[in-house]
Amino acid sequence: MKRRFDDAGPLPLIAPSILAADFAHMARDSAAAVDAGAEVLHLDVMDGHFVPNLTMGPDMCRALRREFPGVLLDVHLMVTYPQQFFEPFAKAGADHLTFHWEPLAEGRATATALEFARDIRDLGLTAGIAINPPTPWERIAPIAESFDMVLVMSVNPGFAGQGFIASVLDKTRRAREKLGGGKRVQMDGGVSPSTAADVRHAGCDVLVAGSALFGRPRAEFERVIRELRGVYV
Ligand code: DX5
Ligand code: ZN
Repeated sequence: MKRRFDDAGPLPLIAPSILAADFAHMARDSAAAVDAGAEVLHLDVMDGHFVPNLTMGPDMCRALRREFPGVLLDVHLMVTYPQQFFEPFAKAGADHLTFHWEPLAEGRATATALEFARDIRDLGLTAGIAINPPTPWERIAPIAESFDMVLVMSVNPGFAGQGFIASVLDKTRRAREKLGGGKRVQMDGGVSPSTAADVRHAGCDVLVAGSALFGRPRAEFERVIRELRGVYV
């Protein structure tokens, strides 16, 4: 059975981006994040084409699934041809796949996005669509309700540790307004205890954090996760 955002715990959910973990100690760092309260592990998949970096593939997903049977594995596909990876990631134990709007062929992008959402759901996973900071909300607004989650990028994708682009908060508010409470809105890039309040107030309920979490000593993970969530007791 696949895991769902709606059953993962009370909102907001915290999704550590393992791209910022120590790759030589992936299980150790991921376990520390999960033990500190994270409900989701966020896997950043990059192809060196849609974004200028290479990261991980289905094998990493399979290894994490084996190690963390109960954790929701959220795969963020920053690749030009996402469809070739839907089935490999489904078989590797992923629960959710998000693909980007930007590489979809102009003129056919809306139809393709809807087709991809169906393909992902046919595999038993939930589907998300992501927009980069320069992409207006209006591009995906007409089809956003066909997805389980909308991902608003708050950095230009490619690397962990970049600065938060606050101007995306405006379109995030519009996304939340249109989607109502039943859908997840995720933010990814430069999310930290100091930017998280703005992110949550704009309507995000799944917060991805890479360097703000894994850049800290493990003894601080619990505190950082509480601060990302907005719980200060
Ligand atoms: C950006 C990735 C993000 C990123 C998050 O290309 O999609 O998930 O690694 O890392 P931080 O939180 O350090 O920006
Ligand atoms: Zn990501």
